[in-house]
Amino acid sequence: MENDFFYSLGEAAEKLVSSKGIIRIISHNDCDGITAAAILVKALKRLEMSFVVSFVKNLTNDVIKELSYESYENVVFLDLGSSSLEYIGNLLKDRNVFVFDHHHFIETGFNGIFINPLAFNVDGETGISAAGISYLLAKTIDTENIDSAYLAIIGAVGDMQENKGFSGLNRLILEDSLSHIEIKTGLRLFGYQTRPLHKILEYSTEIFIPGVTGDEKGSISFLQNLDIPLQDKLGKYRKLSNLTSDEIKRLVGGIILERMKDEKSDPEDVLGNIYLLKNEKEDGIYKDLREFSTLLNACARLNKASIGLGVCLNDSQSKEQANEVLANYKIEIINSLNWFHKNRKTGRIIELENLTIINAEEYIKDTLIGTTASILSKSNIYKSGTIIIAMAHTVDGFTKISARISGNGKEISLRNILQDVIKIVGGQTGGHENAAGAVISQEKDDQFITEVKNYLGKIEQVA
Ligand code: C5P
Repeated sequence: MENDFFYSLGEAAEKLVSSKGIIRIISHNDCDGITAAAILVKALKRLEMSFVVSFVKNLTNDVIKELSYESYENVVFLDLGSSSLEYIGNLLKDRNVFVFDHHHFIETGFNGIFINPLAFNVDGETGISAAGISYLLAKTIDTENIDSAYLAIIGAVGDMQENKGFSGLNRLILEDSLSHIEIKTGLRLFGYQTRPLHKILEYSTEIFIPGVTGDEKGSISFLQNLDIPLQDKLGKYRKLSNLTSDEIKRLVGGIILERMKDEKSDPEDVLGNIYLLKNEKEDGIYKDLREFSTLLNACARLNKASIGLGVCLNDSQSKEQANEVLANYKIEIINSLNWFHKNRKTGRIIELENLTIINAEEYIKDTLIGTTASILSKSNIYKSGTIIIAMAHTVDGFTKISARISGNGKEISLRNILQDVIKIVGGQTGGHENAAGAVISQEKDDQFITEVKNYLGKIEQVA
């Protein structure tokens, strides 16, 4: 069915290129949405076509209604739209509408252009992101746009599609990006280029190291025991990228040994591919694609997506502003995690056998609740397979819900769970098997919690 997908993409490209007037782009406010928009913007600029871009957290009916009041002839949805096809079709029926998305969709008689890999039996969960679709579209328009392939890979990384390499169409896109991206094998630790070594280990939640993760003193003595100096001769803290190959070997061995104390660990998780941008400077935040994607997510979560867009378009002022955004983001994340740890024994955090519900209300920003849930799901705090449902209030009377699963529990579909519960409670929902979200009105918080507990209780009884 991949052929049909490419055929439809070709038709979409033709229609987009022949559109008259301004192209109105609405994209998702996250790393994948920002990179998807950047790729399309670059392609439109090459064609000397005009465009207007904005980013939204969720495509609510109100957003679609507002678009219908605008007079743009051509409307492009990126990384969203799949769950609102009917409403989009009704409200924007006289326009040229394009939806490029990889989220789960509901079959309707939508008469705009709808490009979603899932509609062609092509993997859109981990095989391609919205940035990937935007890239393939751009490449169909003009092969010169191959210079945007690396942005599509950043989008895929941001959507957690990299798992010991890429799969599906992302593999093809990665091939296209190799003039920009260099792939190395290394420790799958975050902050390879930018953070002091002992800090990398302290903040290593993806590879949990008992006695080291979350413990600065533990991290320092771990390195001392491995005979790896923290500082160089000038007293500067060393980074992972400064270590000799012998030191790296000792570090890898040490981490694997330490992790073997924990029965849940898999030695293979420690090493993996590291994707680096060839043209970026060694110790910059744009060198490692995972850091780059975090930066874009940071921009999105602090409502500065346009800075992220500027960064992708290589605008030097945006790149400067992004440094500040990243610093603020780190502070916000630390505050959220501190709140979680302080409140674990209070009624705000419900910890059951295979389910944790974090009812953060206004104590964690709604834009950071998904990240907080993701970090917790990777941190070995909860045993593998535990469902983490985190809730935070928005400023306008709603509750943002993020669901994640701890460890590698793949058999459960979080999207289906939220969908079933939201059917009872009311609200909007969507997402993927292992990362889903929803929005409900705040007065439904208690009912939602009760229904989630009921629903999962029933599944367990059956299992
Ligand atoms: O916001 P969060 O990171 O928890 O979202 C996880 C996934 O669920 C994303 O793919 C997002 O697009 C989707 N989602 C959704 N509707 C919502 C919230 C999230 O489709 N109301």
